[in-house]
Amino acid sequence: MLDTIIFAGQVVLPTSNGRALRGTEMNELKIIDNGAVGIKDGLIAFVGSAEEAADLEAKETIDAAGKLLSPGLVDPHTHLVFGGSREHELALKQQGVPYLEILAQGGGILSTVRSTREASEEALYEKGLFHLNRCLTYGVTTMEAKSGYGLDKETELKQLRVAKKLNETHPIELVSTFLGAHAIPENYKGRPDAFLEEMLSMLPVISKEGLAEFVDIFCETGVFTVEQSKTFLQKAKTAGFGVKIHADEIDPLGGTEMACEIGAASADHLVGASKEGVRMLGESDTIAVLLPGTTFYLGKDHFAPARDMIASGAAVALSTDFNPGSSPTENLQFIMNLAALRLKMTPEEIWNAVTVNAAFAIGRGEAAGSLEVGRNADLVLWDVPNYKYIPYHYGVNHVNKVWKDGKLVA
Ligand code: NIG
Ligand code: FE
Repeated sequence: MLDTIIFAGQVVLPTSNGRALRGTEMNELKIIDNGAVGIKDGLIAFVGSAEEAADLEAKETIDAAGKLLSPGLVDPHTHLVFGGSREHELALKQQGVPYLEILAQGGGILSTVRSTREASEEALYEKGLFHLNRCLTYGVTTMEAKSGYGLDKETELKQLRVAKKLNETHPIELVSTFLGAHAIPENYKGRPDAFLEEMLSMLPVISKEGLAEFVDIFCETGVFTVEQSKTFLQKAKTAGFGVKIHADEIDPLGGTEMACEIGAASADHLVGASKEGVRMLGESDTIAVLLPGTTFYLGKDHFAPARDMIASGAAVALSTDFNPGSSPTENLQFIMNLAALRLKMTPEEIWNAVTVNAAFAIGRGEAAGSLEVGRNADLVLWDVPNYKYIPYHYGVNHVNKVWKDGKLVA
């Protein structure tokens, strides 16, 4: 006897084969029209056609004719925990002041650093919870959360502990990343190497308290160079962490190539990735996490070369980059729309990029992102007739219901 059986007009089945989908594989997406998914003890117990499910008994039957059922979405790059907000910078943006100029003047990331240092752990928890609840109502059941608004030991640990507590108390599964190398704080101005050493000295305690699985760095003009980033990430790798990088977001410095060279789990942004970087992504296991919401919000015309990446055989994932500066949105559905319009990705590629590939980018490829018997029952029921509809109809929330581990949570 199943706990729940859901009959849906269409079931979308991103399938993983034990690794991220690359190149043309990304355009393959299994669907079942008039399908059914069964849940028992929090796990998926049945996936098949409504006909095959006709004789199954369940305590609860949900008839969702005309609706779409999918795995819970995975958001693999967010800056979830922070104090304050930056609406005051909107006017500067309108006047054309560049993102890196606002940062160089002590605003941008450094403005959020001040607010985050001032906030109590409880206040950060409550604020993180608010945003996390919104992510859940938009269909996300697994996501990554970075620190990086402390830039000192105390505040970085405060952010990481808040993320840990949110993971323990909220239905969304959070994967934590230490981004202490997000900017150079005032007291280390002109001494980036000394600051990076200070951040590296935190790795033992982060590891001991289980506060992060990944380490990330912002490799960018005026922040950290490719060489500094490489040394930093290699040390983090030796200390047992998976590594990620904010690379080639604004200026094309060559972080994409370096990420592939050192075997990063993912390289993120990649708007300015070079031809060589794109070629290397096609040959490495580093997943390209693309963040078109950020490119949109920074007001740029040139987006990451997703088509070239897929043609080169790369594995592409998509994410919100949710943060208070360059991408203030929790709405991964809008990112799916931008991926269609600006990255020219197909609906099939987009679905794989926010499920299977996103899960692999954060080390959850075997647990999240697909509907397989025996996996946690993380499901979303959508008020749309088919999977192509979500990248098409933009700006609204299409979610009808969300289950995490078989429990109805939204
Ligand atoms: O991914 N670029 C660096 N980090 C974030 C933005 C952080 C912020 O502006 O607060 C990003 O775009
Ligand atoms: Fe980011």
